[in-house]
Amino acid sequence: MRILITGGAGFIGSHLAEAYLRQGDEVYIIDDLSTGSLDNLAHLQANKEYASRLFVHIDTILNRDILLELVGTCEVVFHMAAAVGVQYILDNPLRSIQINIQGTEKVLDMCSKFKKKVLIASSSEVYGKHLHAPLVETDNIIYGPSSKFRWSYAASKLMDEFTALAHYRESGLPAIVVRLFNTVGPRQTGTYGMVIPRLVSQALAGKDLTVYGDGEQSRTFTYVEDVVHALMLLAASSGAHGEVFNIGGVEEISIKNLAYRIVEMTGSSSRVKFIPYKEAFPADFEDMQRRLPSIAKLKNLTGYSPTTDLETILTKVIEFFKAKA
Ligand SMILES: NC(=O)c1ccc[n+]([C@@H]2O[C@H](COP(=O)([O-])OP(=O)(O)OC[C@H]3O[C@@H](n4cnc5c(N)ncnc54)[C@H](O)[C@@H]3O)[C@@H](O)[C@H]2O)c1
Repeated sequence: MRILITGGAGFIGSHLAEAYLRQGDEVYIIDDLSTGSLDNLAHLQANKEYASRLFVHIDTILNRDILLELVGTCEVVFHMAAAVGVQYILDNPLRSIQINIQGTEKVLDMCSKFKKKVLIASSSEVYGKHLHAPLVETDNIIYGPSSKFRWSYAASKLMDEFTALAHYRESGLPAIVVRLFNTVGPRQTGTYGMVIPRLVSQALAGKDLTVYGDGEQSRTFTYVEDVVHALMLLAASSGAHGEVFNIGGVEEISIKNLAYRIVEMTGSSSRVKFIPYKEAFPADFEDMQRRLPSIAKLKNLTGYSPTTDLETILTKVIEFFKAKA
């Protein structure tokens, strides 16, 4: 099978590419390297067996001509390219909206033209400011005002969902939407605000681990290979077309306790330092207190459950950063 991965030089996209190459498929990638890196693909390009089935195009999804060629060539499209990360969105507000709305529109238009199956990466951010748990795909959505710019990411991802679902309704395009909750593992960078790589890097460097607010906000974390497994199961299931699925972990932890655990596991002499939100982010920032997914819908359709616990995830991320040092 020929698979197209937009954003394939990114963290999740590169793991997805590896999984399809491992099972004998051809993988096409389009990535503009804005947050991704060819380093994420170097081990695949160095593998003779994989290299002959891996085709990497450094270009933007806003380029219609290259999309025409690539979507025309491939059988399944994973649309992972996006402006991501809280810090990146706040630093590049206009570009982020353009990539996440116009870029997705172009990918979906092309999939519709060629009637190709497409899986769109949305985000748990779409749920907004909920405090209840677990979050179910049919929940209402609560956002802050447009003056608080962090909501632009959630709103743009929500528009992506509507656009994919509209294609499904109007033309039967086999589109699948996944709402990814915090996904972690080797190759994720802490540069754009991702919490685990940031805290692990700080601990290994002997710096203070910076926790925003009182650290009582909680998250679940899913290992990237578990996420990739779920994406592949959904892509293979015709029952997923026109549907939205949460993909996330079930082990909840506060960011404060996460930081203490990382200090313990790295054997670091670092301290955990609490930074008020107003010092860490612009005034228009708001955090979410809690984000726990229900994965019942995904499980019922595919039988999927995550298999990697937090201890193992942290061990793998720590090993990755130690090897990089
Ligand atoms: N990692 C998570 O925890 C998480 C959570 C929720 C949703 N997601 C979604 O999953 C997807 C992948 O995220 P990731 O964590 O791998 O991030 P990432 O930044 O590593 O990957 C995104 C990739 O898209 C590329 N890209 C950005 N704009 C592009 C453009 N215009 N044309 C071509 N390529 C472009 C980047 O260079 C990067 O390689 C994104 O859509 C993101 O919104 C991720």
